[in-house]
Amino acid sequence: MFATSWFYALMCISLGVGICAYVIHKKPNIYWGSALDTRAKYIANESVLDLVDYRYHVKNYQPSFLVLCGNPELRLPLVKFCHTLRRGNGTIVYGDVICGKFQDKLTLLNNRASHYLPKYMKMRAFYERSISPDLKTGAESLMQLAGLGKLRCDVLVLGFKKNWSELRKQKLDMTPEEQTQHTDPADEFSNESYVALLTECLVTYFLKKNHYCY
Ligand SMILES: *[C@@H]1O[C@H](CO)[C@@H](O)[C@H](O)[C@H]1NC(C)=O
Ligand SMILES: *[C@@H]1O[C@H](CO)[C@@H](O)[C@H](O)[C@H]1NC(C)=O
Ligand SMILES: *[C@@H]1O[C@H](CO)[C@@H](O)[C@H](O)[C@H]1NC(C)=O
Ligand SMILES: *[C@@H]1O[C@H](CO)[C@@H](O)[C@H](O)[C@H]1NC(C)=O
Repeated sequence: MFATSWFYALMCISLGVGICAYVIHKKPNIYWGSALDTRAKYIANESVLDLVDYRYHVKNYQPSFLVLCGNPELRLPLVKFCHTLRRGNGTIVYGDVICGKFQDKLTLLNNRASHYLPKYMKMRAFYERSISPDLKTGAESLMQLAGLGKLRCDVLVLGFKKNWSELRKQKLDMTPEEQTQHTDPADEFSNESYVALLTECLVTYFLKKNHYCY
C-alpha cells in the first residue's frame, strides 16, 4: 500500500484504527458470527449423517432416553435422575408438551425452546417442546420425532402418576365449565391418557422391536 500511495495508505489505516477504537469503546452487544461455529455444525452434521450405516446390536447398545418431564425446572428430581443415566452414552431428550392451540402458543415456543436444557441447570441434554391439544397427542409426537437420524431414543421415561383416584374425584366434582377452564397441566394428564400412553408404548414395543420400552 505504501509503495503505491503513502497518503491513501495512511488514510486507510487511520480510518481502520478509528472504526476499531469506536467499536471497542461502544462495546455493542452484537454477535459477529464465528467460523468455528460453522465448522462445529458442519462436523456434527457430517457425523450424524455418517451414522446411516450404524447398526444396532446388543454389544453396542447405548440406552437413549426420552424423558417426558414437562417443564424440567419443575420436575428437577426426574431430570436429575435421568441425568445420572447418561453414562450409557445414549441420547437423552427431555420432552415437554404445551397444551393448547398451535397459533396461540407459538410465542411460548419461540421464547423458550432452544432445543437444549437451560445452561444454568448444568446438565447437557436436548430439550424438545411440542404444542398439542392434549398431553397424550403431544407425547405421541415427541415419541415419533424426538432425536435426529440414528440419535433417537429407545427408552421412554415417565413420572409415576400419583393419586390416581383422587384426581379422578376432583374432575368429577367439577362442573363441565370448570373442567374446560381448568388448565393445570398436571391435571390434564388424566388417568385415561396416562394408561393409554403406556399401552401404546407396550404395543409399539411388541410390534416393532427396537422402539420404546418402559
Ligand atoms: C450437512 O450435510 C449435507 C450432506 O453432506 C450438506 O448438503 C449440508 O450442506 C450440510 N449442512 C451443514 C449445515 O453443514
Ligand atoms: C461412554 O463413553 C466413554 C468415553 O468414550 C467410555 O469411557 C465409556 O466406557 C462409555 N460408556 C459405555 C457404557 O459405553
Ligand atoms: C396426593 O396425595 C398426597 C398424600 O395423600 C397429598 O399430600 C398430595 O397433596 C396429593 N396430591 C394431589 C395432586 O392431589
Ligand atoms: C383409570 O383409567 C383406566 C383406563 O381408562 C380405567 O380402567 C380405570 O378405571 C381408571 N381408574 C380410576 C381410579 O379412575
